[in-house]
This record gives sequence, C-alpha cells and structure tokens, in this order.
Amino acid sequence: MRIGVLTGGGDCPGLNAVIRAVVRKGVQEYGHEFVGFRDGWKGPLERLTKPLGIPEVRGILPRGGTILGSSRTNPIKVEGGIERVRDNLRAEGVDALIAIGGEDTLGVATRLAAEGIQVVGVPKTIDNDLNATDYTFGFDTAVHVATEAIDRLHTTAESHSRVLIVEVMGRHAGWIALHSGMAGGANVVLIPEVNFDIDEVCGWIESRFAASYAPIVVVAEGAQPKDGQIELLTGELDAFGHVRLGGIGEVLAKEIEKRTGKEARTTVLGHVQRGGTPSPYDRWLATRFGLHAIDAVHEGDWGKMVALRGTDIVRVPLAEATTTLKTFPLSLYDEAKVFFG
Ligand code: F6P
Repeated sequence: MRIGVLTGGGDCPGLNAVIRAVVRKGVQEYGHEFVGFRDGWKGPLERLTKPLGIPEVRGILPRGGTILGSSRTNPIKVEGGIERVRDNLRAEGVDALIAIGGEDTLGVATRLAAEGIQVVGVPKTIDNDLNATDYTFGFDTAVHVATEAIDRLHTTAESHSRVLIVEVMGRHAGWIALHSGMAGGANVVLIPEVNFDIDEVCGWIESRFAASYAPIVVVAEGAQPKDGQIELLTGELDAFGHVRLGGIGEVLAKEIEKRTGKEARTTVLGHVQRGGTPSPYDRWLATRFGLHAIDAVHEGDWGKMVALRGTDIVRVPLAEATTTLKTFPLSLYDEAKVFFG
C-alpha cells in the first residue's frame, strides 16, 4: 500500500514520534510505502508532498514540532475541497491516509471517512480535550512546562509579595490548568468549565497573604468570569470557527489590583507549552499510537481512531472522538479546592 501521513492543527510534542513509529513498522514489517503531506489538510488540498521513508524519520523521536509542518486549513470550508482532496490522493497513488491531529483535523477525517476515503486517525493535542481517549500526547509535556514555571514563580512572588498569575493554554478545557496548578501548588486555579467569581478569587488571595505567603493564580486561557462581573474582549475566529483565546491573565491582574490593592502581574506561557522535546511519557504514548495506527491501516479498519484506555491502545470510531469535547470533571475540580486560598 502507499500511505499518506499528515499532521494538522496546533503542533505538539510527540508528533514526530508518531510519524517515526508509523513509518518504521509500516516499512519494516508490512512493506508499505509512505508519502508525507505538508502543512495539515493544506497538503492533500494543494498536493504539497514530501518524501517519507526510513531515512527521513531517523533521529526525530526526541524532536518537538512536526517534520511534515502543520496548519489549520479546513478543506470542508473550501469550495470543492473534499473533491480536490480525493483527486489529489488518487493522483499521488495514495490508498490510505493517516491523519494525526486534534478535534478539528480529526473532524475533517471523520467527514472524509463518511465519503469513503480510507482514513485512520491519531489523537494529539496539548489540551487533552479529545473524547474517547484517556490522554492525548503533548499534554504531559505541556503540564511539565507549566509546572516548572509555577515552581519558579513561587520564589519571586514571595520575594516581592506580589500576586503572580500564570495563564496557560487548553482552549475550552481546564486539563493543563488543573494538572499543573495542583502539581505546582497554586493557590487559585481557574478553569473554563466553571465561571469564576472575582470576589471569591480576591478572598482566596487575601487569605493567602494573611498566612504570610504570596499567591499564585493559574488561569486557563478559556476561563470566564461570572456573567456581568468583568467585561472581556472577543478574539478573531480561525478556519474552524474557534475564537483565538488569550488575555484573561492581564484582565484578571487589573481586576485583582483594583479590588485588593496588591500588585498583580501576569506570565502568559503561550506556545512555550507546545515547543521543544516531548516528555518520556509523550514519546511512549505517541510511539504506541503510531504502531497501532499502522496496524489499523494494514487491516483496513477505516474510519477509526487509536485511543488510550487505561494502559491499552484501542480503536474507536472517529465520530466518537470528535462529536463532544472532553472537559475537566467537576468532581476533580472540587477535590482540588482544598488548596485554594
Ligand atoms: O489546541 C492547542 C492550542 O495550543 C490551544 O491550547 C490554544 O488555544 C491554541 O492551540 C493556540 O493556537 P495557535 O497556535 O493558532 O495560536
């Protein structure tokens, strides 16, 4: 078989580990051939390819980013996009496609599978918000980066008796915020799943100062205040209709200063959370996803996504993974509140 591989959406550590595993097992054990599509769905849409064989995947296991490039191109939004993808796959002699991505990239894969294109999905995202899999690779690395930042901010917060706010990514889910906030001993963690009450947040901050410590607030980029409490600006939309998030940390700092009289400063971790080498866990998970994805292709099990359940890798229908977001369980948020304030 000749198999196309693409990586779409925001990049994340571990993408190269998947590509390596797919190609190594596909060539060595099954004798398949590969072609890389560049820049996510833009590749098959515009017939942008790159050679993909064992020489191309040598040494890429610990490298962040993706050797194939990525984009947020959405062929469904382009007139005749699906037909162009189908024609270009045929023109490249591609029998099957492995799409590595999050909700958006796999949403396109779901649609293509419904149109009869032979596709298998691999879940990636630092946000860990994909349904049907316990974890996505990239998440563990992002939590490590955020936790290290929180650890460092504790000492400088204490030195200056400041409120230090850390804004983390995660889109509309609080996985990175709560995992790093708990691991880093934050005094307040605000997640998109629960609209925060600014009076309560200021109460936690004051009680932390009263105990002679400086507070660290972790805020997820998608966190929102209770209705009418603080006015927020809305960002522009991407090709999948998602609003560009970011900026809640600054808004929060101003509001905290106004209400408590304490100096409040914000660190936005941004794309640092997505860059650089994957953690050992992410390399392990990404590699296993790649090995199982090529098995699914070899067996012709189309329209499936590989997923982690406990320590097993299973296959689930792509549609199951992309119809609802996996938000943070509220019971776990309540559990963490013992450390707030
Ligand atoms: O989905 C991954 C993610 O890093 C989100 O956490 C964040 O909201 C978004 O991508 C940022 O996108 P971009 O790379 O386009 O700025």
